[in-house]
Amino acid sequence: MTTKTLIVGGYGAVGREAATGLAGHTEVVVAGRNPERARGVAAIRLDLDDPAGIDAALDGVDAVLMCVEHGNARLARACLDRGIGYADVTATPEVIAELEKVGQGNAPVVLSVGIAPGVTNLLARHVSDLAPGEPVRIGVLLGSGERHGAAAVAWTIDGLGREKGTWTADFPAPFGRRTVHRFPFSDQHTLGLPDVRTGLALDSRSSTALLGAANRRSVAKVLRSPVMRPVTDRVFGGLHLGSDGFAVIAEAGGVRASFTGRGQSRATGLVGAHVIRRLPGLRPGVAHLERLVGPTEFLTALTAEGFQLELP
Ligand SMILES: NC(=O)c1ccc[n+]([C@@H]2O[C@H](COP(=O)([O-])OP(=O)(O)OC[C@H]3O[C@@H](n4cnc5c(N)ncnc54)[C@H](OP(=O)(O)O)[C@@H]3O)[C@@H](O)[C@H]2O)c1
Repeated sequence: MTTKTLIVGGYGAVGREAATGLAGHTEVVVAGRNPERARGVAAIRLDLDDPAGIDAALDGVDAVLMCVEHGNARLARACLDRGIGYADVTATPEVIAELEKVGQGNAPVVLSVGIAPGVTNLLARHVSDLAPGEPVRIGVLLGSGERHGAAAVAWTIDGLGREKGTWTADFPAPFGRRTVHRFPFSDQHTLGLPDVRTGLALDSRSSTALLGAANRRSVAKVLRSPVMRPVTDRVFGGLHLGSDGFAVIAEAGGVRASFTGRGQSRATGLVGAHVIRRLPGLRPGVAHLERLVGPTEFLTALTAEGFQLELP
């Protein structure tokens, strides 16, 4: 059993949901540079740039959930050296590539923890097992009404204009048929399947139109330019046009699986909490979630948190 969990970034949009999901299962301590922002949970000051601070924060801990993109591989290595289980919600391909190389140790290092990557990996594994060799298409529909964390907004802006093309996909009710814009989610690189594409859709028509325009390479370059970036962050962070619902689907050869609900930050945090609760039973070493748990069993357990699952 995990007895004491450190959640780094644990009072951010994702981390605080993980802390709530772990309450009553393990002792929880959240960490960040401004612990006075934490509410209703034990909190410590930790700056990931401070190696001595990391040392002290890991003392007495047996699991770490990383909800920040900063020094991830160094923290994972520190955990492995101490036999501490580690799970990371990072969605950035370069950070994941570094984590994949942290080496061996006597504890699990779990990657692709969250919605995308995370639930998407499990859905993709499920449909590709049912339709082997078929191209896999993964669509992520986000509610633009949700107040996403600053780091998640920045991550989305960083991904704009990186991949070209669209397709249409049928999302579960209430969303229906949507245009999906190709988007660089990390699962397409890590699933180990020959033909995987990932894309993003938004729930409101006006924000989908904005996404289509912003996802053009030339426009994205301007939006990310040093002069424009603060404005872009503010505009994207302040857009609350639709609902807080989300849906993820994976399709292969006419087989479709989906997972829907409200609050993708909440869902990501809860996936993190469920992974932490299972860490003691997972094999040591670095692995993506779909290699460690069965999609049906893991996703069905999450439906107890109010999410809907359709698995063929
Ligand atoms: N896998 C998925 O499906 C998925 C979905 C959503 C988000 N994510 C990822 O989840 C991560 C968190 O997103 P979020 O929306 O929760 O972001 P957020 O609300 O901005 O929270 C980030 C947290 O990290 C802390 N932090 C930042 N820099 C730090 C440092 N140097 N040392 C220690 N703590 C630091 C912040 O607190 P202080 O500023 O006070 O230090 C804050 O608590 C992002 O990397 C995002 O890409 C993944």
